[in-house]
Amino acid sequence: MSIAIIGGSGLTALEGLEIQRQQMQKTPYGEPSGPLTFGLLNNRDIIFLPRHGNPHAIPPHRINYRANIWALRENGVEDIIAVNAVGGITARMSPGRLVIPSQLIDYTWSRQHTYYEGDGNEVVHVDFTCPYTPELRQQILHASKSIGLECRDGGIYGATQGPRLETAAEIKRMENDGCDLVGMTGMPETVLARELGLNYACICVVANWAAGKTDEIIKMDMIEKNLRDGMIKVRRLLSAAIGQAQG
Ligand code: HPA
Repeated sequence: MSIAIIGGSGLTALEGLEIQRQQMQKTPYGEPSGPLTFGLLNNRDIIFLPRHGNPHAIPPHRINYRANIWALRENGVEDIIAVNAVGGITARMSPGRLVIPSQLIDYTWSRQHTYYEGDGNEVVHVDFTCPYTPELRQQILHASKSIGLECRDGGIYGATQGPRLETAAEIKRMENDGCDLVGMTGMPETVLARELGLNYACICVVANWAAGKTDEIIKMDMIEKNLRDGMIKVRRLLSAAIGQAQG
């Protein structure tokens, strides 16, 4: 067993997954968002975990990211493909697009964001220059080409605290910082995978224009509709990417 998919908003269940069993995994950090689902996707063994739980009930700031990543590692996972709903900030990041981000900026606060708490052990600073594993990113991009699915290569993901959406001024500041996308769940999930030595890449689904990018206010029903449409593409992409995975 080596590959896991973490589902985000709009991907609470993975259609096409032939479920074999479910298992609740205890960890030193408490319980993950729900049981791990073991199954076959495109004839490969995978583990699926919806980070908001099923039903979708855990808000971004209450997700036990440490337990989720730990539980996957405990079950032999080496590669994680995460799916995240985002708002689009820069011009090409329009609703409906799929993007494989290449960098991130962390604006979250007061989340349990490390396994290296000190506790009398040696101080550890992991390298995070490239937050997403380049080979896994390429595998996903290659899969998108192989099925003729448009998928943007690169972009900077800004992780915000939520659960509220941002103000227009906050988005302007993020844009000045270089962010292309805004989402609430990218951190600390990404760095925790790095701390445990796992490969990690992310498929972002643009659900809406970020705050202040249009004259309209952001409505949940519009987000949900764009996510429903986007997830049809994500399922195809995941299946193709898993089919190409090594091991
Ligand atoms: N902001 C933050 N997170 C999001 C958004 C947004 O506009 N859309 C979907 N997730």
